[in-house]
Amino acid sequence: MRQKIVAGNWKMNKNLQEGVQLAQEIDKLVSELKNNDVKVILAPSFVNITEVKKAVSSKISISSQNVAAEASGAYTGEVSASMIKSTGAEYAIIGHSERRMYYGETDAILLKKVKQALANNLKPIFCIGEVLEERESGKHFDVVKKQIEQGVFELSADEFKNVVLAYEPVWAIGTGKTASSDQAQEIHKFIRDTVAAKYGKAVAEETSILYGGSCKASNAKELFANPDVDGGLIGGAALVAGEFLGIITGF
Ligand code: 13P
Repeated sequence: MRQKIVAGNWKMNKNLQEGVQLAQEIDKLVSELKNNDVKVILAPSFVNITEVKKAVSSKISISSQNVAAEASGAYTGEVSASMIKSTGAEYAIIGHSERRMYYGETDAILLKKVKQALANNLKPIFCIGEVLEERESGKHFDVVKKQIEQGVFELSADEFKNVVLAYEPVWAIGTGKTASSDQAQEIHKFIRDTVAAKYGKAVAEETSILYGGSCKASNAKELFANPDVDGGLIGGAALVAGEFLGIITGF
């Protein structure tokens, strides 16, 4: 059985005190769940990772929202995979559409980031997804396939087994417009088939593929009911503990 995952990408929200408080609230709610088989991940800003990690129990895993493409050295303002790992974080979000769009992160840069994460035992949560014009012109399958091929298909099968994929249609992020359940299943199945063609069916069956884009407690159930949707990467709705819990219990 592949891992179900709900990850909260806090983006550039929550200062230190607010972040610690939110993490404690979420930790308390998750700790009270009976028979929870969903991996819950929080991704605060770099500067707050250490304290958020200290504030939660082992029921919560921590991710960064980004990672440097280089290992160490004179890269002012960057944060290396080894620094992230040393805080106790286990995951790194890589290739979020906001990083691709606003910070010019290309497929080639993202591949370097993925390799840095893996070399430091951080599991990449690798994001893919098309913009509205690509969806409307029917190019979304090609776009997503190319992003996967260039971002992670250079990895060996053993390396790839540590990768979580997150499909986030850019037109659904922060817009209140969610992919329909059928749209999500259709492209998640396509993504799994793409992984199967490269690494084989067994690896593809074990790969967690998350949906992201205006996912909230009220639509999580319908999205997560799909056989190829293994959870969510959540933005806005991850900033309120009760709402986030409603997503975690949406399976
Ligand atoms: P929203 O849930 O706010 O649409 O953001 C999704 C996202 O980008 C998560 O990484």
